[in-house]
Amino acid sequence: MPDPLTDSIVDAARRARLHAHAPYSHFLVGAALEDSAGAIHTGCNVENATYGLTLCAERVAVFKAISEGARRFIRIAIAADTDSLTPPCGACRQILWEFCGDIPVILTNLQGKTETLQLKTLFPRAFDASFL
Ligand code: THU
Repeated sequence: MPDPLTDSIVDAARRARLHAHAPYSHFLVGAALEDSAGAIHTGCNVENATYGLTLCAERVAVFKAISEGARRFIRIAIAADTDSLTPPCGACRQILWEFCGDIPVILTNLQGKTETLQLKTLFPRAFDASFL
């Protein structure tokens, strides 16, 4: 039975993907991050001619949300057009851990395939503020 809340966050990630600025890789990614009040903060990848300045969709979503005052998050959906579902990169895993902790990460593609993994599974034994 479909979960309507999960469906809406997946749709939001797929829609956000269409805003990607990816003239170099042509690899479009969308993310949708839900906060504890139920608001959804979206992001897309934003590339740059200086390739290393590229920001992934997940980090754009997190930084947008933080800059708007959101602080607690319950899940994120990530959409890309790949048969094997696209997971967040290492840098994004670190940022997601910092601001979201062990949230469910919903991976999805354009064919309707989804898989949900806990961030802790994707990012075990994280370095974080608990060590400082
Ligand atoms: N990218 C994301 O936005 N999120 C991911 O999870 C993987 C990679 C972007 C970065 C770059 O613009 C393009 O995909 C190719 O690496």
